Amino acid sequence: MVSDQLRDLKIPANRAPRFQGKVSQAEALCRGGARAVQFRGTPWVDWSNYWGAGDMSSLPTGFISTKLPAQRGVIGALEDLELQRVELIKFNLFDNSGTYPDYFQGRDGVSGSALKVWQQMRLQPANPSYKVVGGDGTQACKGDLIRWRTVSGICNDILNPAMGSSGMLFARNVEFESSFPDLGLNELAQNRHGSRLSLLQPDPQVISRKLFTRIQTNPDKCQAGYGLPNDSKDASCDYKKAPFFNVLAAYWIQFMTHDWFSHLEEGHNQSQYMDVGCQTKLVNNVQQPLTPEDIQALGCRPDDRIDKGYVAEDNAPPTFVSGEKTRLARAPRTMANTNTAWWDASQLYGFDDTSRLRVKRDPADTAKLLLVPAVGQPGPGYLPIFGPNDPINPEWAGQEASGFPDNWTIGLSFLHNLFAREHNSVVAEFRRVAASTPDADCGLRDPAQPKQIIHYRDVTPDQLFEIARLVVAAEIAKIHTIEWTPQLLYNEPLYLGMNGNWFGLLGQNGGLLSKALSDIVVNNFGKSTDAAKASAWYSVFASGPGIFGLGSHVNGYDITNPKYTNGGVNHFGSPFNFPEEFVSVYRLHPLVPDLLEYRDLKDDPNKIAKRIPVVETFQGKATSFSQTMGMANWGVTLGRQRLGLLTLHNSPLFLQNLKMGRLDSKTQQIDVVALDIIRDREHGVPRFNEFRRQYGLRQLTSFDDFMDPGAAPGLPDRLEQQDAVNTLREVYGQHVCDASKIITDAQINEDGSPINDCLGHPNGTLVDNIEDVDTAVGYLAEYRRPHGYAISETQFVVFILNASRRLFSDRFFTSSFRPEFYTKLGVDWVNNNGPGPEQLEKGTPNGHKQPVSPMKRILLRNIPELAPELDNVINAFDPWARNRGQYYSLGWEPRPGAESDDSFKNQ
Ligand code: HEM
Repeated sequence: MVSDQLRDLKIPANRAPRFQGKVSQAEALCRGGARAVQFRGTPWVDWSNYWGAGDMSSLPTGFISTKLPAQRGVIGALEDLELQRVELIKFNLFDNSGTYPDYFQGRDGVSGSALKVWQQMRLQPANPSYKVVGGDGTQACKGDLIRWRTVSGICNDILNPAMGSSGMLFARNVEFESSFPDLGLNELAQNRHGSRLSLLQPDPQVISRKLFTRIQTNPDKCQAGYGLPNDSKDASCDYKKAPFFNVLAAYWIQFMTHDWFSHLEEGHNQSQYMDVGCQTKLVNNVQQPLTPEDIQALGCRPDDRIDKGYVAEDNAPPTFVSGEKTRLARAPRTMANTNTAWWDASQLYGFDDTSRLRVKRDPADTAKLLLVPAVGQPGPGYLPIFGPNDPINPEWAGQEASGFPDNWTIGLSFLHNLFAREHNSVVAEFRRVAASTPDADCGLRDPAQPKQIIHYRDVTPDQLFEIARLVVAAEIAKIHTIEWTPQLLYNEPLYLGMNGNWFGLLGQNGGLLSKALSDIVVNNFGKSTDAAKASAWYSVFASGPGIFGLGSHVNGYDITNPKYTNGGVNHFGSPFNFPEEFVSVYRLHPLVPDLLEYRDLKDDPNKIAKRIPVVETFQGKATSFSQTMGMANWGVTLGRQRLGLLTLHNSPLFLQNLKMGRLDSKTQQIDVVALDIIRDREHGVPRFNEFRRQYGLRQLTSFDDFMDPGAAPGLPDRLEQQDAVNTLREVYGQHVCDASKIITDAQINEDGSPINDCLGHPNGTLVDNIEDVDTAVGYLAEYRRPHGYAISETQFVVFILNASRRLFSDRFFTSSFRPEFYTKLGVDWVNNNGPGPEQLEKGTPNGHKQPVSPMKRILLRNIPELAPELDNVINAFDPWARNRGQYYSLGWEPRPGAESDDSFKNQ
């Protein structure tokens, strides 16, 4: 498989002629027959039409052997995806912290993409560990700083101590010149958008109300997301549902984002406030004030205000000259990630000294997190509630204690409690083994005395706490990679691709071959100073052994030598942090329903007993729901309900009307979905079409392109799409195009000419303002998606790049995934999804023999009452009562035993 990929890779020398996910007619025919050929002319990637990339209907018929065409389809899709990843690594890394000129030009004869150490990633003198890592000399982390994940995230990369730590700058995935289009700083941006854009133009609240609002058949039963008194089950809020993804998955991704990034500090932004729209609309392409009648009809609020987002730097960015061109060395404005960028479970364990104070340890065993009993509830207990001396934003009073407490509702409460229990399960198992074999070598080593064996009995509570954290963080990364994502992108190529990222394409038990490939990758490509080899081939070869554990099998491993401990990481020449564009595509608020279909496990899980408004569980109100109803009931509630589709007209009503006591405004309310648009504009995210071009996807040429070319004329879907297109035209408008204006240098036309304002339409004609569409609007408007995709292809391409970088860059997922750091028990726990040997799932779901999934194991271990409910569950993020049917079915049918489930009635 690896060699097939290598043979076929064709990476362009410069960014303009990108792959765009489009193959030749012959290739399309070979991989997907007439159907794949039929859709080649659309803007959307070709691989989704290949054989085997969908459900049963995508499997080939009429061949002597259908197996081979299906393989060609699926392997073809994987090749396209790999090619996209290689291109993305080559063209889409833009660090904001000053390293970009070196990346672009190279340093001391080494190509930029092979650079591994940057002075911008040094600790500053004010950092308490400054001296320990080497002060103003060469900096290298050592001693206790390299043994665990540190609170602030320093020393993950031993030679770049500050990388990924709290407060480092967000990166970009787009050329700096294309960011902040509203500022019109260059000719391309001016040509692209004229003077049509500003922070509140087009009006974000108008966009929210016209394009995002969930349409209700019975508004009285919904009450704008507030439901009916006493959580009556008669309440009803319509939303579009994804049949293959549950509400637990929605909360999972919020839980993840709280680990990865935040623009806010302690739940607030700057002290200065600003307007948030509900002010203007376009009439015949001219901006006009809203009338009181308009405001009433829209239901927006001109008196809402929000605190301005933080900006780290807004002075003119430095530039450098390369060839004939002057380039920006960073974006016109930068923002700091106040969280650690590492996948380190910092939402649970904290990310700086203040947040660490919110993490409560059990005084009876300080290796454990504190859990307190809740009246009438079985099990190991619940997180304690914040006390008066805890450092919290006053709005968080009454919440259960955690590192990252912002925007808390019952789903986050459930996941924080679950993983606190899992932490304690790791500690308990370690203590059990330590009690039975106290003198055994636990595998851990201290770099200060690397030869000295550390026995189970020698491990201190503080050390065990950190070991459990390492294990929990790795379990979370594993769940996300091989369980959550394959359900988010529910098809065969992505199942294989994600398992490949983790275990390697050679399979979970790749054995010697996998180890050998890992050696090849690390020893040859990791060290290479040839940029092309170091970045492009590295990621391809890494598909062989998998990213996880890369570099951890190297012979002669020495914990005192960064060559080994740090040797498996690869930043591809650009220090790791999330880009602003990543935050943008994770604004996934439509996933959340307004009402939760509450079920009681002991009574009858098939019955919806109550409909609880999510907003009634906001902040401290979650606690009593969590602790009186209990983890098991919340498990079945979140596990069975379908989440919201990421599409237009599907944002939660309660988020459009969210009351937030901290806001210094007349209304003390905010439309969070309008705010999503405003924040993206503040952060300078390019608008949708340029965003796609920057990521190497094909541009759209009018709003009509959003419609699914496969949707049959006259059907409700098609009519709805046409309606959305009309609204987009109304909100964003049209203009008379000027073919003399070049609007981008990210791509070129097929004939090699530059792309101009007319996007292929005749000069001087009225064209859609497709260039102005906000990215968060555009990705929700993509009606054409690969089979089983809960996100759009534009969101997905951002993910391809950053999801693998998040693994490639992290020492604890690559070369430091070793017993010396995790203990033997820890390594086995991560590999086997818990204590003891690996457990295999029944049957061969979608044709694969697979282990019992990591999230299912965690649920079973820590909420054992769920065992009967989970018996039929293969993937914990697939609605628990759904019959998975045959090959990647998206059907909404009950599994045996759930026939009477209320959610299958009247659907
Ligand atoms: C369930 C209830 C939720 C509530 C009450 C909520 C509330 C909020 C609020 C108020 C903000 C704005 C912060 C600001 O910029 O001032 C925000 C931002 C955000 N939300 Fe949510 N949210 C919820 C669920 C989710 C979910 C399910 C996701 C899925 C990933 C999500 C992802 C985000 C992201 C990525 C941001 C931007 C954060 C940043 O800029 O650092 N939220 N949310």
